[in-house]
Amino acid sequence: MVATARSPIPTERGLRLDIRGLAHAFELKGERLPVLQRLDLSVAPGEMVALLGPSGCGKSTLLRLVAGLEPLQHGELLADGAPIAGPDPSRVVVFQDPTLYPWRTVWDNVALGLQARGLLRQQRGRVDEALAKVGLGEFAQAYPRQLSGGMAQRVALARALVNDPRLLILDEPLGKLDSLTRIAMQGELIRLWQQQGYSGLLVTHDVEEALLLADRVLVFSDRPARVLAELQVARDYPRHRDDPHLVELRRQALELLGLGKDW
Ligand SMILES: Nc1ncnc2c1ncn2[C@@H]1O[C@H](COP(=O)(O)OP(=O)(O)OP(=O)(O)O)[C@@H](O)[C@H]1O
Ligand SMILES: [Mg+2]
Repeated sequence: MVATARSPIPTERGLRLDIRGLAHAFELKGERLPVLQRLDLSVAPGEMVALLGPSGCGKSTLLRLVAGLEPLQHGELLADGAPIAGPDPSRVVVFQDPTLYPWRTVWDNVALGLQARGLLRQQRGRVDEALAKVGLGEFAQAYPRQLSGGMAQRVALARALVNDPRLLILDEPLGKLDSLTRIAMQGELIRLWQQQGYSGLLVTHDVEEALLLADRVLVFSDRPARVLAELQVARDYPRHRDDPHLVELRRQALELLGLGKDW
């Protein structure tokens, strides 16, 4: 069967990311630990790219560099052609742990970014909009302890979306959810991405999740991470887990990750 290309999504919002010759190392017990090695990758405006790779290979480090949370050591990191010099609300990260402030309501947690930028007074409506996007409008006045895990993660998403990001950086955002909530949230992530048109960089350990969500999946090697392969997912959304094209790509990805024989 010939795989069909997916239809284009709106891309005006999406940021173009270019990574060239990126290398990064940490100092660990007096030894130099190379983590990224001559990495080249680009994300086109509106594109969703997933990264798969062994634990500890450097995926979160890469995301932190793109978010501007980690100082650049070597290579080029460009957002729409301009060097990334630090954090910016156009590039926000959602981590595995929602890290909500327990003493603040859902609304106040989502408002944080606007508050920090002195925009909250004029733009309160954006908080309500962000909560509506993740379907939590009715829980605006709840406290984090009153939410389920999936709801808390949706609040974390709303907290990112309130900034109107042009690149959404997702580091195992569904990693702590039970499998049913996870499947529902995968659908949510696709819906939001298609609605909002931002670009996306997603790290996940779940091969199937990467193939369901991303236009392209990059498979990383062990540390120091380099790109072993790039899998193009030639399917429109929503995708189906048992689609033979996805099943074949899954087989390839697992083999590249050294898990081919056992699965
Ligand atoms: N601040 C730091 N100082 C020293 N070493 C670090 C630091 N941050 C990360 N490392 C090391 O860099 C390597 C890559 O870490 P990173 O968190 O990027 O991996 P990862 O691919 O995200 O792993 P996982 O899939 O388990 O989340 C690891 O060996 C880790 O010990
Ligand atoms: Mg990580």
